[in-house]
Amino acid sequence: MSKINRVVARQVYDSRGNPTIEAEVFSKNLSASAICPSGASTGTFEAYEKRDTNNKKYIGKSVLKPVEIINNLISKKLKNQNIHDQEKIDSILIKLDGTKQKTKLGANTILSVSMAAKKLSAKIKKIPLYKNFFVKKNFKLPYPLMNIINGGAHADNGLRIQEFMIRPDKARSFSESVRMCFLVINELKSLLKKNQYSTNVGDEGGFAPMISDNESALKLIVQAIKQSGFKNGKDISICLDVAANELMKKEKYSIHSNKFINVDQTIKKYLKLIKKYQIKSIEDPFSEDDWNAWTKFLKATNNNTQIIGDDLFVTNLERLKVGFLNLSANSILIKLNQIGTVTETLEVIKFAQLIGFKTIISHRSGDTEDTFIADLAVGTNSNQIKTGSLARSERIAKYNQLIRIEEDLGRRAKMNKI
Ligand code: PGA
Ligand code: ZN
Repeated sequence: MSKINRVVARQVYDSRGNPTIEAEVFSKNLSASAICPSGASTGTFEAYEKRDTNNKKYIGKSVLKPVEIINNLISKKLKNQNIHDQEKIDSILIKLDGTKQKTKLGANTILSVSMAAKKLSAKIKKIPLYKNFFVKKNFKLPYPLMNIINGGAHADNGLRIQEFMIRPDKARSFSESVRMCFLVINELKSLLKKNQYSTNVGDEGGFAPMISDNESALKLIVQAIKQSGFKNGKDISICLDVAANELMKKEKYSIHSNKFINVDQTIKKYLKLIKKYQIKSIEDPFSEDDWNAWTKFLKATNNNTQIIGDDLFVTNLERLKVGFLNLSANSILIKLNQIGTVTETLEVIKFAQLIGFKTIISHRSGDTEDTFIADLAVGTNSNQIKTGSLARSERIAKYNQLIRIEEDLGRRAKMNKI
């Protein structure tokens, strides 16, 4: 048995330049560290992100208190624990916090330690991280959901939908899937230039041109797919994250234009978009509380479109159960920091897979060089991974890690079911 000696934390910075926590767990002469990401369009029901709101030196954004909690309280409590017993480690952290949304210690505080422990366990076992989750053989690579145009809370262009993504459905390998996206992104860049739009990128690496209506963005993507020699809806599919929480007022939505319309009218417009642009996946089409709208929408799509709950489920088992009983969605987005420990995240993934939901592992809009989620996707047989565009190293780090995992698996490497 390898015991934890101590845990050390430090304040580092994420891709938006905001302070975040890096935790490092030590056992014997080895250590492993992990960094916590941070969202912008966060769901109300997510676990709590703790910051030093009163520290003026960092305009309230520092994480020095969480760092101190790890260096003192958590380090003491985890001393001598078995590094390979992730459930025990996480249960100690959960108990130490004792609140439903981890408001006492902060989900960011807890998660950075939880992920670092998981990494160190793999390191001591001398196995790659992806082999230290619950899948033990027949590993599958996820399809990337690559974000190529950014809007909503991730850009300043006024585009209503937050993320326009492509998924290379016909790719036979992960490396091939990245190559297909690379071609479309390059075509899109030329098209944007030709139309005199900016090719600057948003928080998740997708382009953030000054386009404010959804259909103009969709038309450009369709054209880029075509010009790359692919068939939209066959070789490559368009997928959306609406992040509708941000677009609702008094049970009406301003998704399709800046005019607020009711749920039935919104669904009608969605169905038109799905048909016209061959959209295969929509995340958060309605807000996190509007269960009825979700149920209506899933029914209206005949369950033929991938409907993903992100802010709706917040990687929370209880909310996923409600969604399952209400026939709200058929897929779930998985973000470790929405729930706060590796163990709870794995429980949600297992349950989702048991009820036939697709699992899509996701980055946050404020992310880091940490590639934990790439390994998590393979180690849990998750169908897809959403980790931005082919721009910004914090996004590409995950794609590069998946390329390494594919190489490590060699001839045994297979793509997952979409
Ligand atoms: P967030 O965005 O990290 O800002 O929440 C990602 C998403 O909504 O999927
Ligand atoms: Zn989302």
